[in-house]
Amino acid sequence: NEVIVIKDNKIINKKIETSDITKEAKDKNGYKYYMLKEIMEEPVVLEKTLEKYLSNKEELPDISSYEEIHIVACGSAMYAGLIGKSLLSEYANKKVIVEVASEYRYQNIIYDRKTLVILISQSGETADTIAAMRKAKENNIDTLAIVNVKTSTIARESDKKLYIEAGPEIAVATTKAYILQVAVLSLLALKATKSITLEEKDNIIEEIKNLPKMLKNILDKKQEYFEIAKKIYKEENIFFIGRKIDYAICMEGSLKLKEVSYIHSEAYQAGELKHGTISLIEENTVVFAVITEDDIKDKTISNIKEVMSRGAKIFIISNDTYQGKNQVTVPKINAFMQPILVVPVLQLIAFETARLRNCDIDKPKNLAKSVTVE
Ligand code: AGP
Repeated sequence: NEVIVIKDNKIINKKIETSDITKEAKDKNGYKYYMLKEIMEEPVVLEKTLEKYLSNKEELPDISSYEEIHIVACGSAMYAGLIGKSLLSEYANKKVIVEVASEYRYQNIIYDRKTLVILISQSGETADTIAAMRKAKENNIDTLAIVNVKTSTIARESDKKLYIEAGPEIAVATTKAYILQVAVLSLLALKATKSITLEEKDNIIEEIKNLPKMLKNILDKKQEYFEIAKKIYKEENIFFIGRKIDYAICMEGSLKLKEVSYIHSEAYQAGELKHGTISLIEENTVVFAVITEDDIKDKTISNIKEVMSRGAKIFIISNDTYQGKNQVTVPKINAFMQPILVVPVLQLIAFETARLRNCDIDKPKNLAKSVTVE
């Protein structure tokens, strides 16, 4: 079970590794689409990942000694990184920059010794993210990978690795892996947080243990979200607005929708719309607003009124209730884990919208599961 490889005129014996894609993962277990199957698996894989870290079976590194953190990834993984940035800067008081790997790899980065570069990648084979990781290593900067595929390049070459336990993810549009990337980033931020007491931390951890059950209750109400998909699937342009961590949630909600349903969609900082893009809002333009952060909810509500005054049709996803219809309300939970109760609603809306549009949901046109080239 070895192959002989010649590299740089040297003979190398390479061990053959068999993939861990199990029959179970390749089976759709009665689902017509991998994407829906993988969304519905989220409570189980979330439980498995949380348990591993909360029981210290796999040590979460203490990153509080680093002064600057760069989070580098592509697509949904980068949007998970935006959530990580919100939490690390707000609660762990860290200076965090989040950059797409295709930009980061060519930028002139001024590294400070106490910098940590976090790479996020489901496949661990995304070319731009590999290049960003190698750039950090060439500068003798510590790298930490949050990765799903344990035999991947990023898993092998990063200094530290935190594995998510998503299992094989077959659908091109990531769902369960994204949720676990957010969960691991949230645990990292919680561990590095100095701004809350140990008792508060313990209470949050108790809440986190209950999260998989709360997520399952949310997924069980999928018909409610499918009703929203019925109202929007014929649209041509859809906007997502939010502030702070809600904006990061919007970025993922928007990408999920556009990559599987082919509806043009844009996520926008709610406070930024008035600086130009609001000119695109007209009668019946669909706008999703995400409101979970208490300290800025009134600001987002005033942005909602701005777009409604221009005729927009508003759908709200929140942990509070603002309107009688076209609203999904999820339970309010600690800020570290709140996104994990919101994004799956947007994933299910994207899925059903694509199904109603007869799209090739698991293999959207022009997309690959892992972009291994530039
Ligand atoms: C997300 O649904 C897409 N499939 C894509 O944005 C993906 O997240 C991105 O290409 C990064 O892939 P990776 O996590 O395997 O590095």
